[in-house]
Amino acid sequence: MQTVSTVKDLQALLNPLKEKNKSIGLVPTMGALHKGHLSLIQEAKKHCDIVVVSIFVNPTQFAPHEDLDQYPRPIEKDKLLLNDANVDILFTPTDIDIYPNGKINTTQIELPHLSTQLCGKTRPHFFKGVLMVVNRLFGIVQPTHAFFGEKDFQQLTVITHMVSDLHMPIQVIGCPIIREQDGLAMSSRNIYLSPQQRQNAQAIHHSMQTAKAQFAKGETSAQSLIATMSKILTDANFKIDYIQIIDPKTLADVDQVQPGTRIAIAAYQGTTRLIDNTSLL
Ligand code: PAF
Repeated sequence: MQTVSTVKDLQALLNPLKEKNKSIGLVPTMGALHKGHLSLIQEAKKHCDIVVVSIFVNPTQFAPHEDLDQYPRPIEKDKLLLNDANVDILFTPTDIDIYPNGKINTTQIELPHLSTQLCGKTRPHFFKGVLMVVNRLFGIVQPTHAFFGEKDFQQLTVITHMVSDLHMPIQVIGCPIIREQDGLAMSSRNIYLSPQQRQNAQAIHHSMQTAKAQFAKGETSAQSLIATMSKILTDANFKIDYIQIIDPKTLADVDQVQPGTRIAIAAYQGTTRLIDNTSLL
């Protein structure tokens, strides 16, 4: 694996490969890698000749009161994992590489509808920042394919729309959520949880499984399924940000659940905000 930090060095590696028409898969990450990230890399290796992983803790997607400074940065451990996963190129840019003209008066992409629902309500800065960084990473790497986890379902939806709206020649591939044995979705933020909170956290998956079982038995009222999930989460000491049952394309709430409708949850265990989602079959 080759590790580069500047745009110039990265492009010097990629340009000859592009001239040979190699397909380039980009897996954008913020580091603190886990099996979820490794599954994206595996998928990228299936589709692409060359796999580039970026590690950049993007400041513009954090609000001032959020965990930017605290966000885990185990770079040496990450490098070992990426090496073992046979990644071709690791790109570790700094702020100046990604935001050469600063982070304030700089080009932004707005996606008003999709990015203001669900997580966009309580984290209005988040998708603005994600679109800023992903757009820049796409511009720098010019990948043929890009890989994102379905755990951040809204992020995947928003990025897929940006690529389609702006006619970017990139295939965006969403990859399934990877879970711990008790069902908790893998996340770099799970390490913030105390042992008790970690135990409580399995309630998110349990609540979604319960809703799925009720739907399988014939319950189609979104309100009723949300009430069931809400009780399970509250009993496990969660502070709920949202539990919504949505159309997977528009992200709009539905009243009556159908196969393919999605449950989306964001909830706090202590100060740690966890998100998850699943499709009702
Ligand atoms: O999902 C993430 O880790 C980040 O939001 C991303 C896509 C790498 C952008 O910073």
